[in-house]
Amino acid sequence: MIFDTHAHYGDNRFNKDRHKLLMSMKQNGIENIVEVGAGIQSTKDAIALSEKYDFIYSAVGIHPSEVADIDERHMEWLLSLSTKEKVVAIGEIGLDYHYNEPERLVQKKWFKRQLKLAREAMLPVIIHSRDAAEDTLDIIKSDCDIKNGGVIHCFSYSPEIAHIYLDMGFYIGVGGVITFKNSKKLADVVEKAPLDRIVIETDAPYLAPEPYRGKRNCSIYLKYVIDEIARIKKISQKEIIDITERNAKKLYRLD
Ligand code: NI
Repeated sequence: MIFDTHAHYGDNRFNKDRHKLLMSMKQNGIENIVEVGAGIQSTKDAIALSEKYDFIYSAVGIHPSEVADIDERHMEWLLSLSTKEKVVAIGEIGLDYHYNEPERLVQKKWFKRQLKLAREAMLPVIIHSRDAAEDTLDIIKSDCDIKNGGVIHCFSYSPEIAHIYLDMGFYIGVGGVITFKNSKKLADVVEKAPLDRIVIETDAPYLAPEPYRGKRNCSIYLKYVIDEIARIKKISQKEIIDITERNAKKLYRLD
């Protein structure tokens, strides 16, 4: 069954129907979801959702756009959460130069600090990297314990950069963007990457695939992502589902 490796169901956009929607996942073929923290409140939400629903796991971390007011006490708090049974990763953490806010130096500081946190927690990392290919790679090379593994979530760089991450043992996270008309570069990455290193993700409520582009995303729409990967890889949807599920369980050590 389908494994959604990255979602944010704590988001306000699910306030009206969250429980009903999550309870419909199984009948729509969704077996597991990792609810990813992107700040203090969303990390609390992730823990709460993973405690309420047996099929939801959580990741704890602070997104690069949310690090402006973070201090050491938050790191101690995240470290204490990391020992909980259903916390499977540190993330999402990384660099986002798209809006350049907060400034790059601050983003880099907390990216490095949270990579150290992942080393201490001995957990894989979920990396968010946008318009920051070079700095992300430099910091991962210097500060990440790659033996704990990780995923480059919503991969948006070239096949050459994908190759470097694959060589280091990372997984490539693929979501709704693969269904967009202008996704030639990502299609190229998916075509070249070995299937046993690709995981699928929604980033719900963001990045809904075609034909729902611009609408609220949810794990049920992964069907369209799977169709597109199957088309590119020239194998069946069933095989894509089975292999990416196995990959996700390996990434998050649930096998
Ligand atoms: Ni996300």
